Amino acid sequence: MTGKLIWFEGIPFPRLDYSPEILSSLQESFIIKDEDVLLLTFPKSGTNWLIETVCLIYSKGDPKWVQSEPIWNRSPWVENKYGYELLKEKEGPRLISSHLPIQLFPKSFFNSKAKMIYLIRNPRDVFVSGYFFWRIAKFVEKPESLEEYFEWFIRGNMPFGSWFDHTRGWMSMRDKENFLILSYEEMKWDMRSAVEKICQFLGKKLEPEELDSVLRNSSFQAMKENNMSNYSLVKGLHLEENGHLLRKGVTGDWKNHFTVAQAEIFDKLFQEKMADLPQELFPWE
Ligand code: A3P
Repeated sequence: MTGKLIWFEGIPFPRLDYSPEILSSLQESFIIKDEDVLLLTFPKSGTNWLIETVCLIYSKGDPKWVQSEPIWNRSPWVENKYGYELLKEKEGPRLISSHLPIQLFPKSFFNSKAKMIYLIRNPRDVFVSGYFFWRIAKFVEKPESLEEYFEWFIRGNMPFGSWFDHTRGWMSMRDKENFLILSYEEMKWDMRSAVEKICQFLGKKLEPEELDSVLRNSSFQAMKENNMSNYSLVKGLHLEENGHLLRKGVTGDWKNHFTVAQAEIFDKLFQEKMADLPQELFPWE
């Protein structure tokens, strides 16, 4: 995947939305405030689901906010041109999204008390989700086939680079008090507990009916029907008309797409790259 990308410090970014100037000034001079909350993911890990959930926690389950403001304004991506400008002007505590690898993240974060949630997902499902997404995205070169995309993914030759490096990098923060690791799988398997975990981390308290409302309004179906969250606002511009960000929303879809050989290559690579990390970080295994 080389067309429509720029490289910054060895990491590819879609040319349309990213600039080396912003990426470099971000690191040195963007100030993360103690009261900011940061939502960090490798693309296709469930970023938008996490944003929707946290917004609903903030509004105590009231869907008014998530139904009236586009998701990229509620929690802008700090590294793209649009989000960077928006966040610079934003007063008070901010929700900030990012896909940046740790080495490119604003340095001010590491001396702050800002809380960060890192959402992780089985990389095999990240791979499948990404394959279908990049095929409907207008701002990157489309993979011709799953085999081609497999090569790109394995080599990290795609937006935001290698899943393995990204995850390893951020996992180094895992013992910090202001860093919570959450998985797409635990959200899928027990969303109630996942929301309670987020609430506890953020110091938020929800009444039982508020929690029920968070669960209802962050469901796959509710998000798919919410024009402020389903990316229908950018169809034709950034996404193909027939494309859906909310595609399937399940765990284990990789089993429908990997060949036996690909599954073996992936397992071997995972072992090589991640074996020294505590395996409980990867709840799908
Ligand atoms: P699939 O392509 O596997 O369906 P991101 O937001 O990081 O781009 O991730 C997109 C993935 O999250 C897509 O996965 C999408 O369907 C899934 N997703 C988004 N909202 C979801 C929800 N409410 N419940 C379950 N999965 C959701």
